[in-house]
Amino acid sequence: MDWGMKDRLARIIKPATGRTVMLAVDHGYFLGPVRNLEQPRRTIEPLLPYADALMLTRGILRNCVDAGTGVPMVLRMSGGNSIVGKDLSNEGITVAVKDAVRLNVAAMALSIYVGSEYEHQTLMNLSKLVDEGEEYGMPVLAVTAVGKELEKRDARYLSLACRIAAELGAHFVKTYYCDEFEKVVKSCPVPLVIAGGPKLNTELDALKIAHDAIKCGARGVDMGRNIWQSKNPVGMIKAIKAIVHQNASVKEAARMLEGSRSAKR
Ligand code: R5P
Repeated sequence: MDWGMKDRLARIIKPATGRTVMLAVDHGYFLGPVRNLEQPRRTIEPLLPYADALMLTRGILRNCVDAGTGVPMVLRMSGGNSIVGKDLSNEGITVAVKDAVRLNVAAMALSIYVGSEYEHQTLMNLSKLVDEGEEYGMPVLAVTAVGKELEKRDARYLSLACRIAAELGAHFVKTYYCDEFEKVVKSCPVPLVIAGGPKLNTELDALKIAHDAIKCGARGVDMGRNIWQSKNPVGMIKAIKAIVHQNASVKEAARMLEGSRSAKR
């Protein structure tokens, strides 16, 4: 791997622990003003000091994040779909790699929809982005998206999707946590991070999936809704950070979260 590529990856996956806490705020690209992300700057600002990287679209980067934060940016490069459109899997590449370079981002992200109507198109998007990324030393994060079919998220399907992403050259992969997650990790030769998915019933549930994913070998999280739709987003990201970088147990992280809640009162 070339120096530039290595350096960009090391800005995201911290060499001290080999892990990362990425904050995902890219949801508006197909969901519009989703709850608690109606005004992105207000959501992002208090959380930014705790994020190892921020995943977002170029529109939100240019309009809602000041330059000079020092936090590496992971730019969403795919889209062209919407939650009210015909098929979420019908995504194209919406950003020129040159613009990603101009924005000085640390990585480019796109979704792949394995098993969907537009599977081929999204896998070709990945391959092309990897080719172009290699030219600039820019890593690619493949997101194994399932659209509205959340029930697809089992070890068999996610192992297939993650492995295909790695085979096509993704430098790291974002997927979902599932039962037997160690199988997904073992069969994927590049680092895996997990999304949180739609807001879980309790904060404890989100801490638990982060903890169990790390225990199975995930290299971190790229979490959104379970952080910023929580009643205590800053407490949540700090608790997740303790799990990811300090191997905190779920109990310890929950205690941290509870502590920051009482401190706020
Ligand atoms: C899809 O909306 C995006 O790629 C999100 O970044 C991803 O789903 C992670 O966010 P969450 O933890 O909210 O699922």
